[in-house]
Amino acid sequence: TGSKTYKIAVIPGDGIGPETVGAALEVLEVLQRILGTFKLDYEHLDWSSDRYFAQGKYLPDDWMEVLKPKDAIFFGAVGHPKVPDHISLWELLLPIRQRFQQYANVRPSRMIKGVKSPLANCKPEDLDWVIVRENTEGEYAGQGGRTHISQDWEIGTELAIFSRYAIRRIFHFAFQVAEKRPRKLLTFVTKSNAQRSGMVLWDEVAYEVAKEYPHVTMDKMLVDAMTTRMVFKPASLDTIVATNLHADILSDLAASIAGSIGIAPASSIDPTRKYPSTFESVHGSAPDIAGQGIANPIATMWAAVEMLEWIGEHDAARIWMEAIEEVCAAGTTTPDLGGTENTAGVTEAVKQIIEKRA
Ligand code: NAI
Ligand code: MG
Repeated sequence: TGSKTYKIAVIPGDGIGPETVGAALEVLEVLQRILGTFKLDYEHLDWSSDRYFAQGKYLPDDWMEVLKPKDAIFFGAVGHPKVPDHISLWELLLPIRQRFQQYANVRPSRMIKGVKSPLANCKPEDLDWVIVRENTEGEYAGQGGRTHISQDWEIGTELAIFSRYAIRRIFHFAFQVAEKRPRKLLTFVTKSNAQRSGMVLWDEVAYEVAKEYPHVTMDKMLVDAMTTRMVFKPASLDTIVATNLHADILSDLAASIAGSIGIAPASSIDPTRKYPSTFESVHGSAPDIAGQGIANPIATMWAAVEMLEWIGEHDAARIWMEAIEEVCAAGTTTPDLGGTENTAGVTEAVKQIIEKRA
């Protein structure tokens, strides 16, 4: 038959990661059974803070060989109250993003029916954005250091790196995302008034690449003014491209305007497909609610929908996303969205809607 098999690395990680990943895996079981058109061959990996406590490392030495042959990486979250965040991030997530050159981090935000925006006048049709974040360099390039350790005059430096090569490839990617969307509008974010080297190069390359996409309208925003525009004129935006730091911040704002960080997905993509891409939520391990069974599973589910789109299972993706929207519209939501359901309740509701379609 025409059933295809995909190799998926599953890394639930820390905190609510295992809870939301577990919820998404349940739905994936239903989809595979009902559609019968594809199979997911999982490798479950315990790369997490618990592994770090036990073995002193988040990643095994052969992590690249383990992940490289996969069709995708499905990731929960990393971060533990007893580990400094820069250690967990730099020892688990960032090596994967950087070594696999997952240079485009894609973060869609839209208002799902039934989900209320904290913006009083924001209607669902006003908010449908895709934020494209440069994911390999910029402010998170990892260059910097500390001198005069522990002295009163200690110095820390953090060097932002912007290369013509990486700017060019992220703008090509962003234009291609914008081109496929009805409004064909790309807003690029910069701070080239105050930062006069890297950010000016960013702007120059933007205008160069723009010449190759004459059907896409491009406009430029300084990052501070961008926060205002997102809040006051959400309908004026569509596709947004920004640096690693700027897009990190703006996408949390976007997720909040769209109702909750508990629904926002993030894909770290290698558009060349030389390496596998990673699919995860925008949110972290949420230690404040971990273990209570109340985490919103929608962000991780939506990330899995994006994963299905990436590997080419578009029907499964569409069916799942419609089920998510139906569940939210019916008010079957976790407390972060104002509901009274728990993780299991939302997951059960999504599964039932998919089962009913069969
Ligand atoms: P966070 O996203 O984990 O939590 C922020 C707030 O949102 C918390 O109040 C949390 O309860 C709530 N929240 C997050 N996800 C939710 C969900 N699915 N359902 C309901 N409520 C949800 O960010 P925070 O607190 O800054 O970081 C916690 C840990 O996660 C830190 O160790 C941080 O480094 C790590 N982190 C990891 C990320 C990743 O793995 N990609 C991304 C962001 C943070
Ligand atoms: Mg973030």
